[in-house]
Amino acid sequence: SAADKGGWSSFMAKEISEEPDAVANTIRGRVVDGLVQIPEMEGLDDETLRSIDRILIIACGTAAYAGMVGKYAIEQWARIPVDVELAHEFRYREPVLSPNTLVVSISQSGETMDTLMAVKYARERGARTLSICNTQGATIPRESDAIVYTHAGPEVAVASTKAFVAQITACYLFGLQLAQARETLSTDAVRALVADLQKVPDQLREVLKSGDRIAELAHWMADTRSVLFLGRHVGYPIALEGALKLKELAYIHAEGFAAGELKHGPIALIEPGQIVFVIVPSPRDERSLHAKVVSNIQEIRARGARVIAIAEAGDVAVLPHADEVIRIPLASPFFEPLLAVVPLHFFGMELAAAKGLDVDQPRNLAKSVTVE
Ligand code: G6P
Repeated sequence: SAADKGGWSSFMAKEISEEPDAVANTIRGRVVDGLVQIPEMEGLDDETLRSIDRILIIACGTAAYAGMVGKYAIEQWARIPVDVELAHEFRYREPVLSPNTLVVSISQSGETMDTLMAVKYARERGARTLSICNTQGATIPRESDAIVYTHAGPEVAVASTKAFVAQITACYLFGLQLAQARETLSTDAVRALVADLQKVPDQLREVLKSGDRIAELAHWMADTRSVLFLGRHVGYPIALEGALKLKELAYIHAEGFAAGELKHGPIALIEPGQIVFVIVPSPRDERSLHAKVVSNIQEIRARGARVIAIAEAGDVAVLPHADEVIRIPLASPFFEPLLAVVPLHFFGMELAAAKGLDVDQPRNLAKSVTVE
């Protein structure tokens, strides 16, 4: 009913507005003296965390993209090889598992059958299991050695939004906890990252203000038949998420690419008028990916693409190259995905609304897929 939506036009509009709280509530109670301490991790004590030599993240849909962001962060901070796999692929290829393998499942509902079966499979073969889940007491956490709950609150709209940012946040917290246990980051480095992460909810509140501008763009693009998304490093999974939202909500053919892959194929798709969202890495990033992505923008623009850049405040280098720039506040480069995804969530919702579609209940989809 309208009352449940708290005055919002849809559950999705309400849930996007709750993204800052989803992040804040997932961090709450897990920082002690500036360091990460996740109380529910007893099932995996520090000694066990030190014995892990490989992490496999398994999930489906949006949760798998959260896992991809997690991979970049966990591997960087805790120096453990991390792979991400779709749950339904994992179980049918006889993966190599050992007691030193930690299988991390990510699921909003905790009931996705593909993910549940993958967790059971991993457990039966001796791997350790950790569940990142948004639903207290759901089946997947009950089947796991340890649980890190995301505190996004109940998510009603079929396509996931606030649970996604909470899942990424949980991955960051877990990655930092692991880095502390394994002493792969100095205490000062962890404290600095934690302090930056704690700033994200307020930064997200800033990003929510871009909603009106995005609604204008979406209405202007309502007849678009294809949209592409480019990102690099932690921006790459965000490109995939932006594309998934357009498929789910607006029934538009959309694809996300790693920007570096452009020249290996996708650039052939660019023709005049093609809309391309580009998640621009921070110019402050040590890997100097910013210049590479700006050069990608120049290449597609030269072929007639219309570029909407999502770039951090103060990034003036991107201005001459983009048709439109959506600003996100300055954050630690690892935390930018949380900020960059919100405009894309808005965009999917607004494009669906512009087409007169039901954003909460897209055709053919279910909130929780409990069959294989
Ligand atoms: C369904 C939903 C998606 C969700 C996926 C995984 O396909 O439509 O929005 O990302 O399931 O759901 P889970 O509950 O496991 O996160």
